[in-house]
Amino acid sequence: MTKPFLRALAGETVTPVPYWMMRQAGRYLPEYREIRKTAKNFLDFCYTPDKAEAVTLQPLKRYDFSAAILFSDILVIPDALGQKVEFREGEGPVLEPVRTEEELAKLSKDNLHQHLEPVYQTMNRLSKSIPDTTAMIGFSGAPWTVATYMVEGRSSKDYALTKSVAYGQEDFFQRMIDLLVDATSEYLIEQINRGAETIQIFDSWAGVLSESAFERWVIDPNRRLVEAIKAVHPNIPVIGFPRGAGVLYERFVKETGVDGVSLDQTVPVRWAADHLQPHCTVQGNLDNQLLVVGGERMISEARSILDVLAKGPFIFNLGHGIVPQTPPENVGVLVDFLKNWKPG
Ligand code: CP3
Repeated sequence: MTKPFLRALAGETVTPVPYWMMRQAGRYLPEYREIRKTAKNFLDFCYTPDKAEAVTLQPLKRYDFSAAILFSDILVIPDALGQKVEFREGEGPVLEPVRTEEELAKLSKDNLHQHLEPVYQTMNRLSKSIPDTTAMIGFSGAPWTVATYMVEGRSSKDYALTKSVAYGQEDFFQRMIDLLVDATSEYLIEQINRGAETIQIFDSWAGVLSESAFERWVIDPNRRLVEAIKAVHPNIPVIGFPRGAGVLYERFVKETGVDGVSLDQTVPVRWAADHLQPHCTVQGNLDNQLLVVGGERMISEARSILDVLAKGPFIFNLGHGIVPQTPPENVGVLVDFLKNWKPG
Protein backbone atom coordinates (compact mmCIF):
# COMPACT_ATOMS: atom_id res chain seq x y z
CA MET A 1 0.00 0.00 0.00
CA THR A 2 1.26 3.40 -0.92
CA LYS A 3 2.02 5.72 2.01
CA PRO A 4 -0.88 8.13 2.82
CA PHE A 5 1.36 11.18 2.40
CA LEU A 6 2.34 10.11 -1.13
CA ARG A 7 -1.25 9.28 -2.04
CA ALA A 8 -2.25 12.82 -1.09
CA LEU A 9 0.56 14.22 -3.23
CA ALA A 10 -0.64 12.06 -6.12
CA GLY A 11 -3.96 13.93 -5.94
CA GLU A 12 -6.05 11.65 -3.71
CA THR A 13 -8.26 12.96 -0.92
CA VAL A 14 -6.93 11.03 2.07
CA THR A 15 -8.60 10.49 5.49
CA PRO A 16 -7.26 10.57 8.18
CA VAL A 17 -5.48 13.59 6.79
CA PRO A 18 -1.67 13.21 6.42
CA TYR A 19 0.27 15.72 8.52
CA TRP A 20 3.80 16.91 9.26
CA MET A 21 5.27 20.20 10.45
CA MET A 22 8.07 22.28 9.04
CA ARG A 23 11.00 22.35 11.49
CA GLN A 24 9.49 19.36 13.27
CA ALA A 25 13.01 18.49 14.40
CA GLY A 26 14.34 21.46 16.33
CA ARG A 27 14.99 23.39 19.50
CA TYR A 28 11.44 23.11 20.92
CA LEU A 29 12.30 19.46 21.70
CA PRO A 30 14.47 18.83 24.79
CA GLU A 31 15.90 15.68 23.17
CA TYR A 32 17.01 17.80 20.17
CA ARG A 33 18.78 20.29 22.45
CA GLU A 34 20.57 17.36 24.14
CA ILE A 35 22.11 16.07 20.88
CA ARG A 36 22.69 19.60 19.58
CA LYS A 37 24.95 20.27 22.61
CA THR A 38 27.28 17.46 21.54
CA ALA A 39 28.06 19.09 18.15
CA LYS A 40 30.87 21.60 17.69
CA ASN A 41 28.69 23.87 15.52
CA PHE A 42 25.46 23.69 13.55
CA LEU A 43 26.98 22.85 10.14
CA ASP A 44 29.09 20.12 11.68
CA PHE A 45 25.91 18.76 13.21
CA CYS A 46 24.26 18.67 9.74
CA TYR A 47 27.32 16.80 8.39
CA THR A 48 27.31 14.09 11.09
CA PRO A 49 25.04 11.32 9.75
CA ASP A 50 24.32 9.49 13.02
CA LYS A 51 23.31 12.73 14.79
CA ALA A 52 21.34 14.10 11.84
CA GLU A 53 19.54 10.75 11.53
CA ALA A 54 18.75 10.67 15.26
CA VAL A 55 17.21 14.16 15.34
CA THR A 56 15.18 13.49 12.18
CA LEU A 57 13.61 10.49 13.93
CA GLN A 58 12.91 12.25 17.27
CA PRO A 59 9.63 13.97 16.32
CA LEU A 60 8.35 10.78 14.63
CA LYS A 61 8.67 8.90 17.90
CA ARG A 62 6.56 11.47 19.73
CA TYR A 63 3.95 12.41 17.16
CA ASP A 64 3.67 9.75 14.46
CA PHE A 65 4.04 12.30 11.63
CA SER A 66 3.12 11.10 8.11
CA ALA A 67 6.49 12.27 6.79
CA ALA A 68 10.06 12.71 7.97
CA ILE A 69 12.17 15.59 6.64
CA LEU A 70 15.91 15.15 6.26
CA PHE A 71 17.76 17.11 8.93
CA SER A 72 20.06 19.57 7.21
CA ASP A 73 19.87 23.24 6.18
CA ILE A 74 19.36 25.23 3.00
CA LEU A 75 22.78 26.88 3.49
CA VAL A 76 24.76 23.67 2.90
CA ILE A 77 24.65 24.61 -0.81
CA PRO A 78 26.63 27.88 -0.53
CA ASP A 79 28.93 26.03 1.88
CA ALA A 80 29.46 23.22 -0.66
CA LEU A 81 30.10 25.80 -3.41
CA GLY A 82 33.00 27.19 -1.37
CA GLN A 83 31.43 30.26 0.25
CA LYS A 84 32.35 30.77 3.89
CA VAL A 85 29.24 29.93 5.99
CA GLU A 86 28.99 29.97 9.77
CA PHE A 87 26.12 29.68 12.24
CA ARG A 88 26.76 31.83 15.29
CA GLU A 89 24.93 31.19 18.57
CA GLY A 90 22.12 33.70 18.96
CA GLU A 91 22.98 35.41 15.67
CA GLY A 92 21.94 32.95 12.98
CA PRO A 93 23.84 32.39 9.74
CA VAL A 94 26.83 34.57 8.80
CA LEU A 95 28.31 34.25 5.30
CA GLU A 96 31.19 35.99 3.53
CA PRO A 97 29.08 37.96 1.02
CA VAL A 98 29.24 37.35 -2.74
CA ARG A 99 28.53 40.63 -4.55
CA THR A 100 31.11 40.86 -7.35
CA GLU A 101 32.11 38.81 -10.40
CA GLU A 102 35.43 37.96 -8.72
CA GLU A 103 33.67 36.65 -5.62
CA LEU A 104 31.22 34.63 -7.72
CA ALA A 105 34.05 33.22 -9.86
CA LYS A 106 35.59 31.66 -6.73
CA LEU A 107 32.53 29.45 -6.22
CA SER A 108 32.36 26.12 -7.99
CA LYS A 109 30.37 22.92 -7.93
CA ASP A 110 33.47 20.75 -8.52
CA ASN A 111 33.36 19.38 -4.96
CA LEU A 112 29.60 19.50 -4.52
CA HIS A 113 28.86 15.80 -4.09
CA GLN A 114 32.04 15.12 -2.16
CA HIS A 115 31.18 17.92 0.27
CA LEU A 116 27.57 16.82 0.64
CA GLU A 117 28.29 13.09 0.96
CA PRO A 118 27.49 13.13 4.73
CA VAL A 119 24.04 14.55 3.97
CA TYR A 120 23.50 11.80 1.39
CA GLN A 121 24.57 9.24 3.97
CA THR A 122 21.99 10.59 6.41
CA MET A 123 19.39 10.06 3.69
CA ASN A 124 20.62 6.50 3.07
CA ARG A 125 20.24 5.69 6.75
CA LEU A 126 16.83 7.31 7.08
CA SER A 127 15.38 5.50 4.11
CA LYS A 128 16.04 2.32 6.09
CA SER A 129 15.15 3.53 9.59
CA ILE A 130 11.86 5.42 9.16
CA PRO A 131 8.59 3.54 9.77
CA ASP A 132 6.98 1.81 6.74
CA THR A 133 4.04 4.20 6.57
CA THR A 134 6.17 7.36 6.84
CA ALA A 135 7.26 9.20 3.69
CA MET A 136 10.81 10.54 3.36
CA ILE A 137 11.12 14.20 2.32
CA GLY A 138 14.32 15.62 0.88
CA PHE A 139 14.68 19.39 0.56
CA SER A 140 16.65 22.41 -0.51
CA GLY A 141 16.26 26.15 -0.54
CA ALA A 142 15.11 27.73 -3.79
CA PRO A 143 17.73 29.80 -5.65
CA TRP A 144 16.22 33.21 -4.78
CA THR A 145 16.04 32.48 -1.04
CA VAL A 146 19.54 30.99 -0.91
CA ALA A 147 20.88 33.91 -2.97
CA THR A 148 19.52 36.42 -0.41
CA TYR A 149 21.81 34.84 2.22
CA MET A 150 24.74 34.67 -0.22
CA VAL A 151 24.48 38.36 -1.12
CA GLU A 152 23.43 39.86 2.24
CA GLY A 153 25.78 37.64 4.23
CA ARG A 154 23.06 37.14 6.86
CA SER A 155 19.32 37.18 7.46
CA SER A 156 17.82 40.43 6.24
CA LYS A 157 14.64 42.40 6.85
CA ASP A 158 14.37 44.33 3.59
CA TYR A 159 16.69 42.47 1.14
CA ALA A 160 18.00 45.86 0.02
CA LEU A 161 21.40 44.54 -1.06
CA THR A 162 19.98 41.50 -2.87
CA LYS A 163 17.41 43.65 -4.66
CA SER A 164 20.04 46.20 -5.66
CA VAL A 165 21.94 43.33 -7.32
CA ALA A 166 18.85 41.58 -8.76
CA TYR A 167 17.44 44.81 -10.21
CA GLY A 168 20.70 46.67 -10.91
CA GLN A 169 23.12 43.94 -12.08
CA GLU A 170 20.74 41.50 -13.71
CA ASP A 171 23.34 39.57 -15.72
CA PHE A 172 25.51 38.99 -12.69
CA PHE A 173 22.56 37.94 -10.54
CA GLN A 174 21.33 35.62 -13.31
CA ARG A 175 24.72 33.84 -13.29
CA MET A 176 24.44 33.36 -9.56
CA ILE A 177 20.89 31.98 -9.87
CA ASP A 178 21.99 29.69 -12.73
CA LEU A 179 24.79 28.27 -10.60
CA LEU A 180 22.27 27.66 -7.80
CA VAL A 181 19.79 25.99 -10.18
CA ASP A 182 22.53 23.62 -11.41
CA ALA A 183 23.96 22.79 -7.98
CA THR A 184 20.55 22.46 -6.34
CA SER A 185 19.15 20.16 -9.02
CA GLU A 186 22.16 17.86 -8.76
CA TYR A 187 21.83 17.91 -4.97
CA LEU A 188 18.11 17.07 -5.03
CA ILE A 189 18.53 14.32 -7.63
CA GLU A 190 21.21 12.71 -5.45
CA GLN A 191 18.92 12.94 -2.39
CA ILE A 192 16.34 10.99 -4.41
CA ASN A 193 18.99 8.46 -5.51
CA ARG A 194 19.68 7.92 -1.80
CA GLY A 195 16.05 7.40 -0.77
CA ALA A 196 14.04 10.65 -0.75
CA GLU A 197 10.47 9.93 -1.91
CA THR A 198 9.45 13.54 -2.37
CA ILE A 199 11.16 16.94 -2.40
CA GLN A 200 10.19 20.27 -0.83
CA ILE A 201 11.82 23.43 -2.17
CA PHE A 202 11.77 26.29 0.36
CA ASP A 203 11.43 29.75 -1.18
CA SER A 204 10.98 31.41 2.20
CA TRP A 205 11.55 34.97 0.97
CA ALA A 206 9.56 34.73 -2.28
CA GLY A 207 7.02 37.22 -0.95
CA VAL A 208 9.13 40.37 -1.16
CA LEU A 209 9.36 40.71 -4.95
CA SER A 210 7.32 42.60 -7.54
CA GLU A 211 5.47 40.49 -10.10
CA SER A 212 8.09 40.76 -12.85
CA ALA A 213 10.92 39.95 -10.41
CA PHE A 214 8.87 37.09 -8.95
CA GLU A 215 8.50 35.68 -12.45
CA ARG A 216 12.22 35.83 -13.15
CA TRP A 217 13.74 34.96 -9.76
CA VAL A 218 11.08 32.73 -8.21
CA ILE A 219 8.93 31.08 -10.90
CA ASP A 220 11.64 30.47 -13.47
CA PRO A 221 14.26 28.88 -11.14
CA ASN A 222 11.63 26.74 -9.37
CA ARG A 223 10.31 25.59 -12.76
CA ARG A 224 13.82 24.66 -13.89
CA LEU A 225 14.38 22.67 -10.69
CA VAL A 226 11.11 20.77 -11.15
CA GLU A 227 12.04 20.02 -14.78
CA ALA A 228 15.54 18.84 -13.90
CA ILE A 229 14.23 16.51 -11.19
CA LYS A 230 11.43 15.13 -13.39
CA ALA A 231 13.84 14.50 -16.27
CA VAL A 232 15.62 11.93 -14.08
CA HIS A 233 12.88 10.93 -11.63
CA PRO A 234 9.52 11.52 -13.34
CA ASN A 235 7.51 9.91 -10.54
CA ILE A 236 8.93 11.84 -7.60
CA PRO A 237 6.49 14.56 -6.47
CA VAL A 238 7.81 18.05 -5.79
CA ILE A 239 6.30 20.51 -3.28
CA GLY A 240 6.94 24.24 -3.74
CA PHE A 241 6.81 26.83 -0.96
CA PRO A 242 6.77 30.41 -2.30
CA ARG A 243 6.16 31.83 1.16
CA GLY A 244 4.31 35.15 1.23
CA ALA A 245 3.49 35.10 -2.50
CA GLY A 246 -0.18 36.06 -2.00
CA VAL A 247 -2.18 35.94 -5.24
CA LEU A 248 1.05 35.05 -7.08
CA TYR A 249 0.68 31.57 -5.57
CA GLU A 250 -1.64 30.90 -8.50
CA ARG A 251 0.92 31.74 -11.19
CA PHE A 252 3.54 29.82 -9.21
CA VAL A 253 1.43 26.65 -9.21
CA LYS A 254 0.40 26.90 -12.87
CA GLU A 255 3.83 27.79 -14.23
CA THR A 256 6.30 25.68 -12.20
CA GLY A 257 4.68 22.25 -12.55
CA VAL A 258 4.86 21.44 -8.82
CA ASP A 259 2.75 18.52 -7.55
CA GLY A 260 2.07 20.21 -4.22
CA VAL A 261 2.25 23.69 -2.76
CA SER A 262 2.80 24.72 0.85
CA LEU A 263 0.68 27.69 1.97
CA ASP A 264 1.79 30.26 4.50
CA GLN A 265 -0.80 31.34 7.09
CA THR A 266 -1.79 34.49 5.18
CA VAL A 267 -3.35 32.54 2.28
CA PRO A 268 -7.17 32.40 2.68
CA VAL A 269 -8.16 28.73 2.62
CA ARG A 270 -11.32 29.33 0.55
CA TRP A 271 -9.23 31.10 -2.09
CA ALA A 272 -6.72 28.22 -2.05
CA ALA A 273 -9.50 25.66 -2.49
CA ASP A 274 -10.83 27.56 -5.52
CA HIS A 275 -7.60 28.68 -7.20
CA LEU A 276 -4.86 26.24 -6.21
CA GLN A 277 -6.35 22.89 -5.25
CA PRO A 278 -7.79 22.26 -8.76
CA HIS A 279 -4.17 22.29 -10.01
CA CYS A 280 -2.21 20.55 -7.24
CA THR A 281 -2.22 19.20 -3.69
CA VAL A 282 -2.14 21.90 -1.04
CA GLN A 283 -0.34 21.81 2.28
CA GLY A 284 -0.71 24.14 5.25
CA ASN A 285 -1.36 26.48 6.87
CA LEU A 286 -1.85 26.89 10.63
CA ASP A 287 -0.11 29.98 12.04
CA ASN A 288 2.98 28.69 13.90
CA GLN A 289 2.22 31.14 16.73
CA LEU A 290 -1.10 29.37 17.36
CA LEU A 291 0.96 26.30 18.17
CA VAL A 292 2.71 28.37 20.83
CA VAL A 293 -0.63 29.54 22.26
CA GLY A 294 -2.32 26.13 22.02
CA GLY A 295 -5.74 25.34 23.49
CA GLU A 296 -9.16 25.80 21.90
CA ARG A 297 -7.99 28.72 19.73
CA MET A 298 -5.43 26.45 18.02
CA ILE A 299 -7.94 23.62 17.55
CA SER A 300 -10.72 25.81 16.17
CA GLU A 301 -8.34 27.33 13.59
CA ALA A 302 -7.08 23.86 12.60
CA ARG A 303 -10.71 22.75 12.21
CA SER A 304 -11.53 25.70 9.91
CA ILE A 305 -8.58 24.79 7.69
CA LEU A 306 -9.62 21.12 7.49
CA ASP A 307 -13.29 21.94 6.85
CA VAL A 308 -12.32 23.74 3.65
CA LEU A 309 -9.16 22.06 2.36
CA ALA A 310 -9.50 18.42 3.48
CA LYS A 311 -12.31 17.89 0.95
CA GLY A 312 -9.62 17.69 -1.70
CA PRO A 313 -5.97 16.61 -1.94
CA PHE A 314 -4.48 18.02 1.25
CA ILE A 315 -1.63 17.63 3.75
CA PHE A 316 -1.89 19.43 7.09
CA ASN A 317 1.09 21.61 8.05
CA LEU A 318 1.94 24.99 9.55
CA GLY A 319 2.27 28.26 7.64
CA HIS A 320 5.98 28.35 8.60
CA GLY A 321 8.33 26.29 10.80
CA ILE A 322 7.79 25.43 14.48
CA VAL A 323 9.42 28.12 16.63
CA PRO A 324 11.72 27.19 19.56
CA GLN A 325 9.32 28.53 22.25
CA THR A 326 6.58 26.05 21.22
CA PRO A 327 5.47 23.80 24.11
CA PRO A 328 5.83 20.18 22.86
CA GLU A 329 2.51 19.35 24.63
CA ASN A 330 0.68 21.64 22.20
CA VAL A 331 2.02 19.64 19.25
CA GLY A 332 0.65 16.51 20.95
CA VAL A 333 -2.80 18.07 21.41
CA LEU A 334 -2.93 19.20 17.78
CA VAL A 335 -1.81 15.79 16.49
CA ASP A 336 -4.49 13.98 18.54
CA PHE A 337 -7.07 16.28 17.02
CA LEU A 338 -5.78 15.66 13.47
CA LYS A 339 -5.74 11.88 13.89
CA ASN A 340 -9.38 11.85 15.01
CA TRP A 341 -10.77 14.45 12.61
CA LYS A 342 -13.34 13.23 10.08
CA PRO A 343 -15.07 15.20 7.34
CA GLY A 344 -18.50 16.42 8.55
O1 CP3 B 1 12.83 19.75 10.72
C1 CP3 B 1 13.08 20.36 9.65
O2 CP3 B 1 12.27 21.13 9.12
C2 CP3 B 1 14.36 20.00 8.90
C3 CP3 B 1 15.47 20.84 9.06
C4 CP3 B 1 15.56 22.26 8.54
C5 CP3 B 1 16.40 23.22 9.17
N1 CP3 B 1 16.42 24.34 8.40
C6 CP3 B 1 17.14 23.01 10.41
C7 CP3 B 1 17.61 24.18 11.20
C8 CP3 B 1 15.02 22.88 7.40
C9 CP3 B 1 14.02 22.32 6.40
C10 CP3 B 1 15.60 24.20 7.31
C11 CP3 B 1 15.32 25.14 6.21
C12 CP3 B 1 15.78 26.52 6.31
N2 CP3 B 1 16.96 26.99 6.83
C13 CP3 B 1 15.10 27.61 5.75
C14 CP3 B 1 13.81 27.53 4.96
C15 CP3 B 1 12.62 27.31 5.84
C16 CP3 B 1 12.24 28.50 6.68
O3 CP3 B 1 12.28 28.35 7.91
O4 CP3 B 1 11.90 29.54 6.10
C17 CP3 B 1 15.86 28.77 6.01
C18 CP3 B 1 15.50 30.19 5.62
C19 CP3 B 1 17.05 28.37 6.69
C20 CP3 B 1 18.19 29.22 7.10
C21 CP3 B 1 18.45 29.16 8.55
N3 CP3 B 1 18.85 28.04 9.25
C22 CP3 B 1 18.37 30.22 9.48
C23 CP3 B 1 17.96 31.65 9.13
C24 CP3 B 1 18.73 29.71 10.73
C25 CP3 B 1 18.90 30.48 12.01
C26 CP3 B 1 17.62 30.89 12.61
C27 CP3 B 1 17.19 29.90 13.65
O5 CP3 B 1 16.04 29.44 13.59
O6 CP3 B 1 18.03 29.65 14.51
C28 CP3 B 1 18.99 28.33 10.57
C29 CP3 B 1 19.39 27.37 11.62
C30 CP3 B 1 18.62 26.10 11.76
N4 CP3 B 1 18.27 25.27 10.72
C31 CP3 B 1 18.18 25.50 12.98
C32 CP3 B 1 17.55 24.29 12.63
C33 CP3 B 1 16.95 23.27 13.56
C34 CP3 B 1 18.42 26.06 14.38
C35 CP3 B 1 19.87 26.02 14.70
C36 CP3 B 1 20.28 25.28 15.96
O7 CP3 B 1 19.70 24.27 16.36
O8 CP3 B 1 21.26 25.74 16.53
